[in-house]
Amino acid sequence: MAKNLLSFVCQNCGAAYNKWQGKCDACSEWNSLAEEDTTGVTTIPVSARSKRKGRTFNLESLTGQSNDAPRIASGMGELDRVTGGGFVRGSVLLIGGDPGIGKSTLLTQATSLMARAGHRVVYISGEEAVAQVRLRASRLGLADASVQLASETSVEDIVATLSEGTVPRLIVIDSIQTMWTDTVESAPGTVTQVRASAQALIRFAKKSGATIILVGHVTKDGQIAGPRVVEHMVDAVMSFEGEGSQQFRILRAVKNRFGPTDEIGVFEMTGLGLREVSNPSELFLSDRDLGSPGTAVFAGMEGTRPVLVELQALVAPTTLGTPRRAVVGWDSSRLSMVLAVLEAHCGVKLSGYDVYFNVAGGLRINEPAADMAAAAALVSSLCNAPLPTDAVYFGEISLSGAVRPVAQTSARLKEAAKLGFGRAVLPESARGDPGGDAGLSLNTIGGLTSLVADIAARGVKPTRDNSKSTDAEKNTAPARFKRQDG
Ligand code: TYD
Ligand code: MG
Repeated sequence: MAKNLLSFVCQNCGAAYNKWQGKCDACSEWNSLAEEDTTGVTTIPVSARSKRKGRTFNLESLTGQSNDAPRIASGMGELDRVTGGGFVRGSVLLIGGDPGIGKSTLLTQATSLMARAGHRVVYISGEEAVAQVRLRASRLGLADASVQLASETSVEDIVATLSEGTVPRLIVIDSIQTMWTDTVESAPGTVTQVRASAQALIRFAKKSGATIILVGHVTKDGQIAGPRVVEHMVDAVMSFEGEGSQQFRILRAVKNRFGPTDEIGVFEMTGLGLREVSNPSELFLSDRDLGSPGTAVFAGMEGTRPVLVELQALVAPTTLGTPRRAVVGWDSSRLSMVLAVLEAHCGVKLSGYDVYFNVAGGLRINEPAADMAAAAALVSSLCNAPLPTDAVYFGEISLSGAVRPVAQTSARLKEAAKLGFGRAVLPESARGDPGGDAGLSLNTIGGLTSLVADIAARGVKPTRDNSKSTDAEKNTAPARFKRQDG
């Protein structure tokens, strides 16, 4: 019988090797290889398999009728927004997130709502006993929902149990790392086990038409633990994020075969479980530090929904040879780019300063449109010039220092007007936007130089006694801003 020699498997990415080595060549992780028996992945002997004849099956046309409603909404608006309008029959979702972020809470609430709507819903916990799941449900006031519970870890037993009776509409497996299957020898939690268990559950979902949600653990750098292949096997991957100290939780689709990946669902963790936040801007702007330098409000878009969020910058003289650049909630290479453009085209010298940058509320911003708001916050902090409290900023900055237009101007302006903002600082080409100005006064900016000059003109030097400074001094840019010609 052919011997499979590949028996050392990277627990981070799933790459297999035939001998142990300290570093995984595929993902560069150190000390992540563990010996696993990958020979027993299938129980059918090779000789028997090769003799098996192929079975013929029917080919279908694209115009055929599918018998059932393809999607069923969970009843939680924010969850349905991220899945793309509800759970698709026969689909498998993977939800990842840090321990204690609220994955079990979210799924307890979602399953209870679906059970109350009359669907058969099963919650299988491999981590908690039935009594613990019940306790959580009663704390959430959901004990009366007819969710079927079990504390099980054997995939074969789960599939056998669920194959009986009416097909469940939704099955939650909390978590995939605790599941194990007889078909492979490795210990639960290893890559081979996780992969084989996921495979068996996915096969069951496709065959029966039930939706399965797999809960996945997350490694310290935020990746969903176990083999990346599980991410490729499932139909959708969601990550549940939030700063531990803050109450906001954000559900984000990383991959979605049946919906968009740019929508976010926003929740607030309360004593009574997760509360849906249908207007996130109000939440992110709720505790604003009005009138202090270094903060700018960015009018962003998350999918189809505009979200206003405060960007905070602190620029402080450094005592280190290499100044610090620390970013939370934004791309650090994007920050370096904005700093380089400020330095090269606007004469803003930042090499002697530490720069700290934060997005309030634990939101992560991926849009290039945040560049201008970030630049405004940075310059405002550097020259101690508070920005107008009723202004929002958006626009992409190019390497030449020009401010480029961004999409969905009118949706951003409407949201800003709704929240009581009076003006917007935006790219020049946005003025002709057919959506109108939503009642805001528009300050269009063609290049970053003019934004810097505007903010610097508002600047107040922190060390100087303001009462002694003349108006002329107040209106000149601090000496740090040496305008370069050309
Ligand atoms: P949990 O859903 O168990 O997290 P996960 O499954 O992602 O590990 O949530 C655990 C945290 O949520 C815990 O720190 C307590 C908090 N929590 C509340 O604040 N309110 C609640 O109503 C519930 C059920 C949990
Ligand atoms: Mg849990």
